[in-house]
Amino acid sequence: MATGWLSGALWLSALATVAALAGGAQGQGLSPGFYNATCPALQAVVRRGVARAVRREPRMGASILRLFFHDCFVNGCDASVLLDDVPGNFTGEKNAGPNANSLRGYEVIDAIKAQVEASCNATVSCADILALAARDAVNLSRDMQLGGPSWTVPLGRRDARNTSANAANTNLPPPDAGLPTLLSMFRAKGLDARDLTALSGAHTVGRARCAVFRSHIYNDTAADAAFAAGLRASVCPAAGGDGNLAPLEPQAPDAFDNGFFRDLVARRVLLRSDQALYGAGNGTTDALVRAYAANGTAFAADFAAAMVRLGGLAPAAGSGGEVRLNCRRVN
Ligand code: HEM
Repeated sequence: MATGWLSGALWLSALATVAALAGGAQGQGLSPGFYNATCPALQAVVRRGVARAVRREPRMGASILRLFFHDCFVNGCDASVLLDDVPGNFTGEKNAGPNANSLRGYEVIDAIKAQVEASCNATVSCADILALAARDAVNLSRDMQLGGPSWTVPLGRRDARNTSANAANTNLPPPDAGLPTLLSMFRAKGLDARDLTALSGAHTVGRARCAVFRSHIYNDTAADAAFAAGLRASVCPAAGGDGNLAPLEPQAPDAFDNGFFRDLVARRVLLRSDQALYGAGNGTTDALVRAYAANGTAFAADFAAAMVRLGGLAPAAGSGGEVRLNCRRVN
């Protein structure tokens, strides 16, 4: 078993707390039982698809979680991020700055969607599949026994019929953002400092490219000197190697635990935007980081509640939407 995991007992109690929390936090007219009558197999099909993908490649859990964040922050959780560009006709989010050569996991959602269509034709939105898959990606883990927290996912989202690269470029926070920028970008979505800090704990899994953390490890005094020097020597040269990967949380890169917050306190994280949460003079986020570093159960509960709020971000009123048959294109 990977080091740095919380014990099973801890996660179990986190799970109970979270179920209680999530039960009362359903946004935008969504409801957990939305498909109970029309697609009773849905949750099992999604979970099986995520489990298969994570078993094949443990990092995929992280990639699916990020896909959901990038969907929800751009015009709400409407699967807009899944739309393929149509040359000469439509430029969507996939090739926007924060997503190009970076966002991944589209094929996993395609495979799950195909399975869902086989049993419940034209019934379940791609946006809902992504919301469920993100929950399962957190909860499942490499050995399928001790993953991150779980929560009840409110359902009933509609898929977008349009989107734009520009919306992705302006709504998604950049990795060199300072805390005021992060706070205001989250506040613009109705999410507060606690949501920002808890959701940033997603960086306890996954990988980042040298291109996005180079400036932090070469230029920022906030980074631990030995940590930064190690990365400069091993994966991220001053020039070149832009695509080289490093784990966002090196102790247990595929385990959903609170290790990221311990790294933050030790100033051993990759992104400038992450380090901005701790030691940049903001008492609120400093205190939250310390609390989550000390108490994985508190992190698990706040993360799950914040994921439900993130999942409640709705498309602009009146946009209608549809249940896409293929997540890559409008019907
Ligand atoms: C707070 C502002 C955030 C910024 C500036 C940010 C930025 C980034 C960047 C630059 C990467 C590396 C991308 C690459 O090198 O290709 C990354 C990876 C990742 N992000 Fe964030 N992120 C933020 C918040 C979040 C949130 C809220 C979540 C989910 C709830 C999330 C989940 C992830 C995951 C799981 C990865 C690893 C993905 C993989 O390995 O495929 N991030 N993020």
